[in-house]
Amino acid sequence: MIIPVLLAGGSGTRLWPLSRKSYPKQFTALIGDESLFAASARRLSGPGYAAPVTVTGSDFRFIVTEQLAEAGIDPGAILIEPEGRNTAPAVLAATLYAAAIDPEAILLVAPSDHVIPDSSAFHAAVEAGLAAVKEGKLVTFGIQPGYAETGYGYLELGAAPAGLAPVPLARFVEKPDAARAAQMVAAGNFMWNAGIFLFAAKDMIAAFHAHAPGLIGPVEASVTAAKTDLGFLRLDPVAWGAAEDISLDYAVMEKAANLSVVPFTGAWSDLGGWDAVWREGAQAAGGVGSSGPVTAIDCENSLLRSESDGLEVVGIGLKNIFAIATPDAVLVADMSRAQDVKAAVAALKKKG
Ligand code: GDD
Ligand code: MG
Repeated sequence: MIIPVLLAGGSGTRLWPLSRKSYPKQFTALIGDESLFAASARRLSGPGYAAPVTVTGSDFRFIVTEQLAEAGIDPGAILIEPEGRNTAPAVLAATLYAAAIDPEAILLVAPSDHVIPDSSAFHAAVEAGLAAVKEGKLVTFGIQPGYAETGYGYLELGAAPAGLAPVPLARFVEKPDAARAAQMVAAGNFMWNAGIFLFAAKDMIAAFHAHAPGLIGPVEASVTAAKTDLGFLRLDPVAWGAAEDISLDYAVMEKAANLSVVPFTGAWSDLGGWDAVWREGAQAAGGVGSSGPVTAIDCENSLLRSESDGLEVVGIGLKNIFAIATPDAVLVADMSRAQDVKAAVAALKKKG
């Protein structure tokens, strides 16, 4: 049985004003009716999958239980981080927790901000990855790059891919600058890192010992001293405070040698910004994406969303624009500036 590890602690500021600190994007229904978190949990449930280990922040614990219950999924274990320290401590905590119960545990780490419409293609890729896990590999999933994205990790294939067979990973490059990203896309032997990781708990723990030994002490102490509270497991805040704030990609994946990649050919999208939401939802609608009570007249390549039933949003003659209206904030911007929403949120925070 594979134990899913659901990472649901990010704040998703680039999807403001829908994604809020108190209710981040992974818990909202950005595409369709189901939240990204619930969809991820559902994707990793069913035959072959054990109940998940969810790692999240205290503010989100009841959203997590509510959404898992609504989706009819066994809540499994919910680990509460005293504060977000990025994905390396979160993954290590879940891994140590699972290994304490079963030293032979196999884990599948999944972010909760992705869209993967074809679950059976995804399950086939995971199944293929298990062969490499049995050889002690940390398995990543590769996506055919569409453009020179700087917000992703890149996987250099160590051999030509053949179907879903795991390929040795020659190099892992996290978030390159634009020039380097363009080079890697042009080179042809790189894939995007899907941000999904499959591994035996003991191999991941060994990788932390080798490449991020400073995290082991604080995170292990935090798991050991964790307290149960209404069924949640609260990691010990004092020990956790000493853990470095770093992503798994930088802490371990860029440094580890025993990596493997399964080329995933199904559709995949990280809804990292409004441009991605638009790309995901607008194809079928002639380039104009919409949600809620919206009227678009003579618009092109635009996204209009009203996040409130009584709030009518009308666009006339828009080109490459996204307009997101919520009851207390309206965001209108050029599609090419989608990544700048993060900076806008930071500026608003400063304003208080
Ligand atoms: N529990 C917890 N705690 N979860 C977290 C934390 C944290 O402190 N920080 C982030 N997460 C969750 C996010 O909610 C998301 O589901 C997942 O971990 C990945 O974090 P992101 O912050 O979204 O990472 P990224 O998108 O910049 O980069 C990762 O994903 C890309 C693909 O989407 C990397 O793995 C890249 O290499 C990869 O290409
Ligand atoms: Mg992401």
